[in-house]
Amino acid sequence: MKIVSTIKELKAIREELKGSVGFVPTMGAMHNGHLSLIRQARIQNDTVIVSIFVNPTQFLPNEDYKNYPRREEADLKICTLAGVDILFMPTADEIYTKIEPEILAPKNLSYILEGSSRPGHFDGVLRVVLKLFNLTRPTNAYFGKKDAQQLYLVQNMVKTLFLNVNIVPCDIVRESDGLALSSRNIYMNEKERVQSLSLSIALKNASQAIMKGERDTKKIELIMLESLKDLRVDYAKALSRDFEIKEQITIKDTILLIAAFVGKTRLIDNLWI
Ligand code: PAF
Repeated sequence: MKIVSTIKELKAIREELKGSVGFVPTMGAMHNGHLSLIRQARIQNDTVIVSIFVNPTQFLPNEDYKNYPRREEADLKICTLAGVDILFMPTADEIYTKIEPEILAPKNLSYILEGSSRPGHFDGVLRVVLKLFNLTRPTNAYFGKKDAQQLYLVQNMVKTLFLNVNIVPCDIVRESDGLALSSRNIYMNEKERVQSLSLSIALKNASQAIMKGERDTKKIELIMLESLKDLRVDYAKALSRDFEIKEQITIKDTILLIAAFVGKTRLIDNLWI
């Protein structure tokens, strides 16, 4: 595995690559969710590039940028074992300059749900993803369905800016008890870890109601809220897969989305119906 930290070096290596390139952008602190993206990229491409970059522009001033888990040594091991060919680990100075064009995510999609409590977050995500796509020029790029809104906005950017990359959505990886894997799960203590199960239980309860025939969006959202009653809920929504509000949900065109605080840790989870 080649570890690269400068753009100059990455560009030189990319120039020499033949065949398909699979790209997995990450912020490190890898878990089995990241591993499943890398594995899929490994199977489907001649070369696999992974980036580890805790991107400052997608954190709000009050968020955990400084304290975001950084686990370089463990990440290197995971990438080596998973058969990554090139690991790109730039500094923020390498990625950003003082004067930059603004890249703004579409307002109607980026200021709802995650964006309503994290205004500007998706501008930072799209900005760095576009830069990373330009540098790695991937054939396929792998994104987890757990960040469903991010995935949708990246797909939308690729489509509307005519980028030449295939976005591969990857399934959520869960602990055996249902908790969706996240780098932030380590913030929780034992009691909170138990409480965190309310999110996957809420999704399960809502999906069971849907399987029994419930289609009313408001009732489905109430079922989720009921299961989340012991947590501080940011949102519990049933939306169409293009993030529109519908009175009635449709099978194969719905995402159930939750964000809730367990103690101080903000968790998100979702289920595609
Ligand atoms: O999902 C993430 O880890 C980040 O938002 C991404 C896509 C690596 C951009 O910084």
